[in-house]
Amino acid sequence: MLNTAVKAARRAGAIITRGSMDLDRLVVRTKKDNDYVSEVDQKAEEAIIDTLLTAYPRHGILAEESGVTTGAAADYQWIIDPLDGTTNFLHGFPQYAVSIALRHKGILQHAVVYDPTRNELFTASRGEGAFMNEKRIRVGSRDKFQSALIGTGFPYHDFTHLDAYTAIFRDLVQKTSGLRRPGSAALDLAWLACGRTDGFFEIGLKPWDIAGGCLLVQEAGGLVSDFVGKEGYLDSGNIIAGSPKIFAQLLQAITPHVTEALRG
Ligand code: IPD
Ligand code: CA
Ligand code: CA
Repeated sequence: MLNTAVKAARRAGAIITRGSMDLDRLVVRTKKDNDYVSEVDQKAEEAIIDTLLTAYPRHGILAEESGVTTGAAADYQWIIDPLDGTTNFLHGFPQYAVSIALRHKGILQHAVVYDPTRNELFTASRGEGAFMNEKRIRVGSRDKFQSALIGTGFPYHDFTHLDAYTAIFRDLVQKTSGLRRPGSAALDLAWLACGRTDGFFEIGLKPWDIAGGCLLVQEAGGLVSDFVGKEGYLDSGNIIAGSPKIFAQLLQAITPHVTEALRG
């Protein structure tokens, strides 16, 4: 299954790279304020689904652009973001990725996050570790919060939690080595998994943004939770992740700012 997901991600990557060479000609549609989808997102998703369903015709799909398709083997669900970081992609800002994860009976089993701009392929299967281009990766070993680099995503179309977010931001810029907003949650998690950052948090993500990245982080020895230290992050989209030492300190720093609405 992991091999099939890799094949699907590489097919999508080739479509994305071709599209990136002629951005001016792309047809782009606005989904919501500040939320865009291009023909590349759609074609990449079609290629992924075609590859997966050719190998596993009975499996289910949860994909960003086409939604839920229930298969006959309902226990298996592929969670797909064909292009995570569309805003970057449309600007020619080279930080975007394909994310594919397989959930079986509600538990993430396989993950692929593929960065076509650097040809970096991140993979993980439950219990078997995480890899970048087939080399084992682990989360970083820094233990001091003051020297930790933290990835995040700014709110950009739903500003419900902006006050809480800016309060967290204010605290973290003073308590850590710095914050980064690269613009692709899937890659933010992959980069945490290989030690390029030490922690990550964001509010209101979708399952396809983070399913692949969460398994990568866990298989690389990191921890993932929602804003109250529990497991509801795939549902709420409110996520905190980190190497074990930094995770605990990040959760502690965020806790005073967690409103009732962010607890779910
Ligand atoms: C977005 C990226 C971004 C995050 C947004 C996501 P998209 O995904 O992951 O980093 O901040 O919330 O929606 O729309 O480019 O697939
Ligand atoms: Ca996304
Ligand atoms: Ca997307």
